[in-house]
Amino acid sequence: MNEIDQGYPAGFFERGDPTSDAVFYRPPRLVTHIDAAAISAVSELYAQLGIDGSSDARWRVLDLMSSWVSHLRTAPHELVVLGMNAAELDANPMATERVVQNLNVDPLLPFADESFDAVLCCVSIDYLVRPVEVLREAARVLRPGGQVVITFSNRCFPTKAIRGWLDTDDEGRCAIVVDYLSRAGAFTDARVGLRTPAARGYRGDPLYAVTARRAVS
Ligand SMILES: C[S@@+](CC[C@H](N)C(=O)[O-])C[C@H]1O[C@@H](n2cnc3c(N)ncnc32)[C@H](O)[C@@H]1O
Repeated sequence: MNEIDQGYPAGFFERGDPTSDAVFYRPPRLVTHIDAAAISAVSELYAQLGIDGSSDARWRVLDLMSSWVSHLRTAPHELVVLGMNAAELDANPMATERVVQNLNVDPLLPFADESFDAVLCCVSIDYLVRPVEVLREAARVLRPGGQVVITFSNRCFPTKAIRGWLDTDDEGRCAIVVDYLSRAGAFTDARVGLRTPAARGYRGDPLYAVTARRAVS
């Protein structure tokens, strides 16, 4: 059963460009999608959560919807990157394993149960048309207590983002991600935060983070 059957409004997961993601993501984009301050906020969050190679922990980390950069300050023991473009993933210097997979066609992750310590998804959750299935899979591959970290801004490829995302504001987007995690059913301790300055005059890209832990059953 997909999310539409689970009670989202009609058209929530429709996109301006309904053609295969394989077409849109065929050309490699070796660019950054948010500004330097927002990227730094992602890196700082990962460091605070211990999701990088700076500790003695030999963590195995999965970066979903990844590209040439995963925004980690130091490489974890293992970093598996999954995205649409092989050239982008090949250019990711921290990756120890690369998987090209269209999650909108196949949301099942090709990894063993409880095989990761953390799952990341940076500025990409808005492109998923089956996000609850993907996050249910993220929970399956996370060890109990493992962390999921979903970061996003107000920038996107508008033709590829779902209508439900485009039709709301930053607060609404935070609520959508929390709702996805809730529906995925295996996460606990969901937290939402603005990681860039909240000052009125701040002109940079905002960076929001939703974090949660795989429930310990
Ligand atoms: C805006 S970029 C973000 C890349 C990277 N996470 C970052 O922080 O720079 C969106 C990424 O999502 C990936 N992506 C988009 N649609 C996808 C899909 N259907 N399945 C898997 N990955 C997808 C693309 O490969 C692309 O690299």
